[in-house]
Amino acid sequence: MKSDIPYEKMVDVELSRGEGHHGSQKYYRCLIVLTCITTVLLILLSLQTLLVPMAKSSSTKSSVQQERVLIRETCTDPCRIVLVESIPEGMVFNSSVHQSIYDAWLNLISATQSSLDIASFYWTLTNSDTHTQEPTANQGQQILKKLGQLSSKAYVRIAVDKPADKKPMEDINFLSSYGADVRMVNMRELTTGVLHTKFWIVDKKHIYIGSANMDWRSLTQVKELGAVVYDCSCLAEDLGKIFEAYWYLNQTKTVPAHWPNKYSTLYNKDTPMQLSLNGTSASVYLSSSPPSLCAEGRTPDLQSILDVIANAQQFVYIAVMNYLPTMEFSRSKRYWMDIDTELRRVAYERRIRVRLLISCWNSTKPIMFPFLRSLASLQDTNQLDIQVRIFTVPSDAQQKKIPFARVNHNKYMVTDQVAYIGTSNWSGDYFVNTAGSALVVNQTSASASSTVQEQLQAVFERDWESAYSTDINHRSNRKDIC
Ligand SMILES: *[C@@H]1O[C@H](CO)[C@@H](O)[C@H](O)[C@H]1NC(C)=O
Ligand SMILES: *[C@@H]1O[C@H](CO)[C@@H](O)[C@H](O)[C@H]1NC(C)=O
Ligand SMILES: *[C@@H]1O[C@H](CO)[C@@H](O)[C@H](O)[C@H]1NC(C)=O
Ligand SMILES: *[C@@H]1O[C@H](CO)[C@@H](O)[C@H](O)[C@H]1NC(C)=O
Ligand SMILES: *[C@@H]1O[C@H](CO)[C@@H](O)[C@H](O)[C@H]1NC(C)=O
Ligand SMILES: *[C@@H]1O[C@H](CO)[C@@H](O)[C@H](O)[C@H]1NC(C)=O
Repeated sequence: MKSDIPYEKMVDVELSRGEGHHGSQKYYRCLIVLTCITTVLLILLSLQTLLVPMAKSSSTKSSVQQERVLIRETCTDPCRIVLVESIPEGMVFNSSVHQSIYDAWLNLISATQSSLDIASFYWTLTNSDTHTQEPTANQGQQILKKLGQLSSKAYVRIAVDKPADKKPMEDINFLSSYGADVRMVNMRELTTGVLHTKFWIVDKKHIYIGSANMDWRSLTQVKELGAVVYDCSCLAEDLGKIFEAYWYLNQTKTVPAHWPNKYSTLYNKDTPMQLSLNGTSASVYLSSSPPSLCAEGRTPDLQSILDVIANAQQFVYIAVMNYLPTMEFSRSKRYWMDIDTELRRVAYERRIRVRLLISCWNSTKPIMFPFLRSLASLQDTNQLDIQVRIFTVPSDAQQKKIPFARVNHNKYMVTDQVAYIGTSNWSGDYFVNTAGSALVVNQTSASASSTVQEQLQAVFERDWESAYSTDINHRSNRKDIC
């Protein structure tokens, strides 16, 4: 798989083209000639601008891009989408929950014939990290065992964040001992962030994307939401480009200023992929963050969130673990208002109903609460409809002992139009320097069958109305809630 287009080669081509252009200027004898050339150039440029929407790949890099011309093809795959969830041990809901992420992962592993690519943050599928004997770690251990077996039969590639300090390596070493190909991505060096993405690609045909980490707790002790899309090679191929970018970043010291064409996509917020999902037509695209990891055509994750909010006609429901209009991990304090401003804007200008369901757990930063109270304080009969609720996962004495568990880790948004399923917390860092990705689905066409948007809305409403959610009010502080 050493088919990376040498990045230097591309730069060379561009440089030599540029030089040729400058060289020819020697022959310009007088202003009139110059003016003529400029006019011709301007005409060419404007022609190009006109042509770009029809053939996005024809840019100034055309000589390089001839190596592989991107063509928008109609996707004829019989794609099926299934929402998947992890419900922490002991939680009960009044209405239905979706297939478990555990079952979905088992399905995907047994479906794998030739290849499985996994993008991941860290691996703790056994509970050796907690030095406890948790029976609910069984699922994670089972997944690891199956992945080990698979690694000796199929081509398993794992892209994982390169940890700063001693992060558990047992699972990764186990998998590579069975033949898995592992590459660590040093996001700290490359972008000062982390690789926070969580997705799977099976046989370049099925995909999983969602909030669950490769962590036993993500299957039984943390509330998670994701989606599996089966039999959808068009979408899998596009997600594969994001994976290949991570894979390549292990081989380089800097993020390419221009990603080679093979990482480019034609599918984004302006020109989504048209495909059939469960027999209903849908438009779909994948976004990625940070922007420096987006090749040509890829919508940065923040832009997709802002676009989904801006295009809502009635409501925006958001369920994320952390919500902060700040950078969370920067050394000096930095305010970061992009999403917060957009929510206030649509609520005020267009009377969109905004609901935020945010998580509270032991490690929630207390500063999140005043910012959420500020949003919720806009609520005003007839004029502004913003509500914030805090979701907590209750724990018994035994469960309390499990570190980094018992939290709603969901990262999704649903509007009256679109389902957005992501992997990032909602604070500045996740869109500025940390790698994440999201699946954005618009499947609103009227038909009898349910759409993924309707299903996700039902998940949100189930959780919003549940006994685990409490309204934030002007007195709510972290300590009072969880
Ligand atoms: C690439 O991945 C390998 C295997 O995990 C790791 O040892 C190496 O340090 C990584 N290289 C870079 C530049 O991150
Ligand atoms: C979703 O798709 C429908 C039907 O194609 C279209 O009318 C609508 O504008 C789309 N909405 C968004 C937010 O893209
Ligand atoms: C919360 O975290 C603190 C320190 O990190 C720990 O001492 C305490 O036991 C935790 N409480 C719960 C309920 O998990
Ligand atoms: C989201 O933020 C929390 C708190 O900062 C952090 O612990 C966690 O790693 C982030 N999300 C994950 C693991 O998906
Ligand atoms: C698509 O079909 C699968 C069964 O094949 C079903 O589980 C899922 O809920 C359907 N998704 C939608 C959005 O209707
Ligand atoms: C289930 O519904 C009842 C009645 O509406 C409500 O009191 C209860 O809190 C709900 N339980 C959960 C877990 O949401």
